[in-house]
Amino acid sequence: MNHHAIAIDGPAASGKSTMARALAERLGLVMVNSGAMYRAVTWKVLEEKINPTDAAAVRELVGRIRIDCGHDGTFSTISIDGVDPTPFLRSAEVNANVSAISAIPEVREKLVALQRDYLKSTHVVMEGRDIGSVVFPETPFKIYIDADPSVRNHRRSDDGEVDSVETRDAADSSRTTAPLVIADGATVLDTSKLSIEGAIKAAIDILRAQG
Ligand code: C5P
Repeated sequence: MNHHAIAIDGPAASGKSTMARALAERLGLVMVNSGAMYRAVTWKVLEEKINPTDAAAVRELVGRIRIDCGHDGTFSTISIDGVDPTPFLRSAEVNANVSAISAIPEVREKLVALQRDYLKSTHVVMEGRDIGSVVFPETPFKIYIDADPSVRNHRRSDDGEVDSVETRDAADSSRTTAPLVIADGATVLDTSKLSIEGAIKAAIDILRAQG
């Protein structure tokens, strides 16, 4: 497996997706949004009217559904039992329940395996919470993106989303399995006061120093 991974982790609405997309475009890598995978499973749980706090029922569901992950050459793609859930992944219901679903170890086990599979066929910039700590701990390329909570809430409401980033961050940081942490070897990049272009330039400088 000679493919490389750049790991971009950080809290909700810190600018990870914007950064990962820009790096993927500039460096010619595939951008993988691992949050979309947790959101897709959450969508399926809600679609099947399963109580998201019923871990046994969620485990049973995850054991029987087929999750296909791929990419279109630039971005990751996902389908569950043949359905592309992308249009539904940023709903208020998914935002409110995704942290509970992603705290279930069997959900993570299944999705982490699919995330690692990407390196069988391509180079990736993968963004999430545990990419540098759990999914690709051996990669030298790790950035932890942060921004002040007020900046993050503002960015998210600018996107027109109903989402409490503090509630999700508290749950994602305090869970037992693969909590949000600054991975060993990661460089922290605070984007609160940076323009998008400034943040991308800073990230490229970090990656050069890490490589
Ligand atoms: O990145 P995004 O905000 O879309 O992620 C949605 C949720 O998915 C996070 O709040 C977290 O609960 C979960 N997640 C995770 N591990 C990842 C990526 C996302 O637990 N690597």
